[in-house]
Amino acid sequence: MQDAVLGDYFFIQALENGVQVIGLTRGSETKFHHLEKLDKGEVMVVQFTDHTSAMKIRGKAVLYTKHGQISPSEK
Ligand code: TRP
Repeated sequence: MQDAVLGDYFFIQALENGVQVIGLTRGSETKFHHLEKLDKGEVMVVQFTDHTSAMKIRGKAVLYTKHGQISPSEK
């Protein structure tokens, strides 16, 4: 569990100002615990932890993960 959780880093690069990276808690209650704001071009290196089981990303950003690159689609 420890390796699975802590072993995985990925990168979030903001494509516009004010992109929000919201950390959500692990466990029976899923709550926001962290809000990070990124400006255009800024990169955040993140991982899932004992504390963080999910993230919500608001705004245009590219995610680089071991599963591939995830880009926003224009709709
Ligand atoms: N204190 C948080 C934790 O250890 C920091 C953190 C890790 C975080 N990954 C994150 C915050 C992803 C926001 C998004 O879990």
